[in-house]
This record gives sequence, C-alpha cells and structure tokens, in this order.
Amino acid sequence: MRTDGSNPIREAARILAERRNAVALTGAGISVESGIPSFRGAQGMWAKYDPAEYATLHAFVLSPRKVWEMLSEMVSVCGGAEPNAAHQGMAALEKMGVLRAVITQNVDGLHQAAGSRRVIEYHGNMETLVCISCWKRYPTRKRWTPGTVPLCDCGEILKPDVVLFGEPIPWLAQEQAEEEARTCGVLVVIGTSAQVSPACDIPRIAKESGAVVIEINPEPTSLTATVTDIHLPGIASEVLRRLIDELSLADETFPSIPSGH
Ligand code: APR
Repeated sequence: MRTDGSNPIREAARILAERRNAVALTGAGISVESGIPSFRGAQGMWAKYDPAEYATLHAFVLSPRKVWEMLSEMVSVCGGAEPNAAHQGMAALEKMGVLRAVITQNVDGLHQAAGSRRVIEYHGNMETLVCISCWKRYPTRKRWTPGTVPLCDCGEILKPDVVLFGEPIPWLAQEQAEEEARTCGVLVVIGTSAQVSPACDIPRIAKESGAVVIEINPEPTSLTATVTDIHLPGIASEVLRRLIDELSLADETFPSIPSGH
C-alpha cells in the first residue's frame, strides 16, 4: 500500500487511529536525543571502536579487558542518560491504546524509564552483568565502577547481558518479537538503519503478515524503498509529537500532548 504522500503524517495518524494495534521497532536513533551515540555513521560508536575487535563474543572471550574499554563507555553513557520526548511519546501512544508493544534493539532501558510497560529487549540490557562461565547475574550498578573490569565470584570477567555479534538473540525475546510482528496491524519503525539481522527481518515479517509499515528516520534506510509504506523523515521526538497531535485531531477520544512534553 502506498499513500499519495500529500500529508504522510495525517495518513499515518489515520491508519494508527483506525487499526489501534500497532507495534514499534526501535533502534539507536531514538536514544540519540538522550545523548547516546548511535552505532553507524560518522559520529557512531563503530567509527571509534571497530566492532570486529570490540563487539563480538569471540573478541570478548579472547581479550575481555580490551572489550571492556568500549563497554565501559557504553555503560557510563547509558547509565547517565534520561528518556527523551520520543521515548515519552511511545509511552503516551501505549496509554492511548494505539501502541501495544515496543521491540527495542537498544540496551539502555529508556523505554521503560519513560513509562512504556510492554518492552521486548531484543538485544538485552546493560543494567545486568552475566558470567559466561557460571551464568551468575549481578546488577551492573552493584558490580561495576568506572575504570574497572567486573569479576564474578567464580573469578571470571563479567559481561553486560547484551547481545554481542556472534551471540544468539534471547529466545523468548525473539519469539515474542516475531509473534508481535506477525499479529500487529501497523509496525512503526523508529531510528534503526535496519542493517543488523535478525532484527532487520521484523519489518518484513510484519509486512508479509499484512501490516502497514511506518518508518520514522531522518535518513532513508534499506527498508524505505522496499518494505516501508509511509516514510516520515525527521527526528523521532519531533515526528512523534506531530503524529500524536494529528492522532488527537483524527480521533477526539485521543488527548493531545502539550508541546514541549
Ligand atoms: N531520530 C530518529 N532516527 C535517528 C535519529 C533521531 N534523532 N538520529 C539518527 N537516526 C537514525 C539514523 O539515520 C540511522 O538510520 O537512526 C539510525 C541508527 O542506526 P544504527 O546506528 O545502525 O543503529 P541500529 O540500527 O539501532 O543498530 C542495530 O547494531 O551495532 C548493533 O547491536 C547494535 O542494536 C544495535 C544494532
């Protein structure tokens, strides 16, 4: 389904109001406005740390102290970040009964911090450390301090409970995410370059199951010309604010969000 493109925000709001069974897939772009760098692009984490050396399970097993140089930066940046207006917009859409779940590739916990209740953490979360030898888990804030490499009681070096390249997606998260994609009426894809699998397959699963795909990203991605029905170019907080305002126009039952929220 392609729209005439005359007013994509209004069209997206109409479809969301009509179908009321949307699911979102979010990526690093939604947290950029919280001061967390994305991964790709000139300012991205991978411009500073080669993912082959710093972000694979193999690299972690071979040189955990080196990988912790990158992980320390991520734990600090995520730990100090606050949800932004885009995260709050997602929580508002859930409250309005338009959005029923968020599938996130982010490990920063900001959707939950903004009040979203159903969040599927597809790549895990930085707030927990896990021992890849005895599988014991610890809260990161209790076991890690900046400049240190955290150890398990068994003596092994701990890893944040996030999915490094070469690691499988937590099976429950994968199951739940695919089930949501198969049964949603609308998939709203926000702030992902859709270059990493299997997360990048979620929009295709939703599309093949009859959902309308709405994409919010200042740049076109590999999805835009293939899977996306409505591309809303812009930064997440601004586009979501306008979308929620349109929703309140589209359907009086929806309260509008005061600007600057
Ligand atoms: N609002 C919306 N989108 C934005 C914004 C913003 N303010 N700023 C940047 N973007 C977009 C960029 O245009 C880009 O398409 O967000 C996207 C971020 O892409 P990536 O950096 O590739 O991040 P992501 O897609 O989440 O990466 C997927 O790759 O490195 C691994 O495990 C890591 O979860 C991550 C996965």
